[in-house]
Amino acid sequence: MSDRIHTLSGYFYEYQKSVTEPENFWARIADSFYWRKRWDKILKWNFEGPSVKWFVNAKLNITENIFEKNLFTNGDRTAIIWEPSEPGESARHITYAELYREVCRFSNVLLSKGIGKGDRVIIYMPMIPEAAVAMLACARIGAIHSVVFAGFSSTALSDRINDCEAKAILTSDGNFRGNKKIPVKAVVDEALEKSSVETVIVCRRTGQEVTMKPGRDFWWHELINGASEKHVAEEMDSEDPLFILYTSGSTGKPKGVVHTTGGYMVYTKYSFENVFQYAPGDVYWCTADIGWITGHSYIVYGPLLAGATTLMFEGVPTYPDAGRFWAVIEKHKVNQFYTAPTAIRALQAYGTDPIEPYNLDSLKVLGSVGEPINEEAWRWYYTHIGKSRCPIVDTWWQTETGGILVSPIAGITPTKPAFATLPLPGIQLAIVDAEGNELTGNSVEGNLCIKFPWPSMIRTTWGDHERCRQTYFASYKGMYFTGDGVKRDHDGYYRILGRVDDVINVSGHRMGTAEVENAINEHPLVIESAVVGYPHEIKGQGIYAYVICDMSHRTEENLINEIKETVSKIIGPIAKPDKIQIVPGLPKTRSGKIMRRILRKVAEGSLDNMGDTSTLLDPEVVEKIIAGRK
Ligand code: WT7
Repeated sequence: MSDRIHTLSGYFYEYQKSVTEPENFWARIADSFYWRKRWDKILKWNFEGPSVKWFVNAKLNITENIFEKNLFTNGDRTAIIWEPSEPGESARHITYAELYREVCRFSNVLLSKGIGKGDRVIIYMPMIPEAAVAMLACARIGAIHSVVFAGFSSTALSDRINDCEAKAILTSDGNFRGNKKIPVKAVVDEALEKSSVETVIVCRRTGQEVTMKPGRDFWWHELINGASEKHVAEEMDSEDPLFILYTSGSTGKPKGVVHTTGGYMVYTKYSFENVFQYAPGDVYWCTADIGWITGHSYIVYGPLLAGATTLMFEGVPTYPDAGRFWAVIEKHKVNQFYTAPTAIRALQAYGTDPIEPYNLDSLKVLGSVGEPINEEAWRWYYTHIGKSRCPIVDTWWQTETGGILVSPIAGITPTKPAFATLPLPGIQLAIVDAEGNELTGNSVEGNLCIKFPWPSMIRTTWGDHERCRQTYFASYKGMYFTGDGVKRDHDGYYRILGRVDDVINVSGHRMGTAEVENAINEHPLVIESAVVGYPHEIKGQGIYAYVICDMSHRTEENLINEIKETVSKIIGPIAKPDKIQIVPGLPKTRSGKIMRRILRKVAEGSLDNMGDTSTLLDPEVVEKIIAGRK
């Protein structure tokens, strides 16, 4: 295979080519895919619009590249290994041929409900193979899927349904979480009270009692029963949207990141094969949820395009005990294991006893994603899970980038704890200072930008292109701004330092501080709030909320609990503040702007030097806040 990197000099050679002749480089990579019609031009772009088009006027369907292109050679190969939450329940092995049949049948189901090209379909499902079938069937008929993490509340779900004007929702009766059953369909019903959704298809999983609204709600198994296995994929333009995925930013409202078809396909497969050095027959496992971009690109699309065996796990790392990940690795002989630092730190806290009973010899590569991995967690992962013989790929990327941009190539790029190391071919990074000057040379630190398009990049934010321009392309002229701080060390290696905007990263999940504040402010006794992140041993960052309240009706403890519940109800349990401090006032400048710098310092406990507070309207409020610190 010409697009596989096998040596360090090979990496440098490919990288060089990708920068000096990007169009030739990507034409070569794209050549191995099945296009109904080839492109007129590889790339047309400007970052002012922004307007980025890859494989201009090419026609294809991404699922034909997963199925039809390979069926003669890999039909019997396992596409998905599904490991249920309950260890006693049987795992499922689904071959490419079987998955193809299910996707075709479900495509016909969607069509029979009047869903077609360009329609938006929300997928709100647990980690079961049907969730992947749902995504692929949408892609096959040209409907735009938007997967919403099944832990989001009905309000968060309904915001997303309304923003993209979804025509249908694919969901389940319930969801297993440890030994609990979570009512998923009931959340959907609540979200649908005021919406235009015409069809709800419910997949049976937990067997929970649900209400089905006649004419709107249908059972998955009933519809798919009579559906034909024959389906000809819809022809898509390379730049037709493939999916929308909502993510948080520095404003109160999550935005719908839009990814398109051709470029996303080429980049996810290319990056998957190279970063993880996947070899035919390997079993690859990414522990993310399909509700996040990692699940899209590196559980479903990337691995399946590469003909890989991808493991999908329904459960949580600590059920039935803290050895579950290691048990699953042994059981299915996992070769590549990709997880998040927050999971590593949480399991590290249990010590090495839970690892002892299991044979982890199958492991070849370990991956990390979602937030900076601290050195201690890196070393623990390397030593106790990888037994000091598996390279760790610390992969930096974002919902907006669609695929991994900075990462070692497993076993090839020399690694350094806590460093994402070097950009993949095609990725032209720039470090800029506050004024937007590019900092060249090594041993520099600044804001991370990207100065040339890559195939899987964000194209727009759904329904609001100006927001896309403002958020990503307006801070520094001619560059995509990531929102992350970064350091390039003396070797030219990249270390991601974390967000420099009002986004906090809690357990690898992105939360906008404004979004959490909006939710807190929904409590009737809350007058004003300010939210910041602070270092948290397991979650990476925790949520610290300063709240001004009407205290005449509740005890402080009751009020704090009610505020937590309010946030949980409006966004979901992942956004619940770790600490809430009731304060008499907030440190504001004369123009009314909250000085978050001070709030961050108090939250992290660095109380000695508050810096210049002379521009504050009421400097005394800082003393009061320090005195009441949680
Ligand atoms: C933000 C993107 C990419 C999939 C999961 C998160 C942080 C992500 C790393 C890493 C340091 C990382 C960044 C980024 N991040 N991976 N390996 N090292 N930081 O996707 O929700 O879009 O969040 O996660 O801050 O901007 P996301």
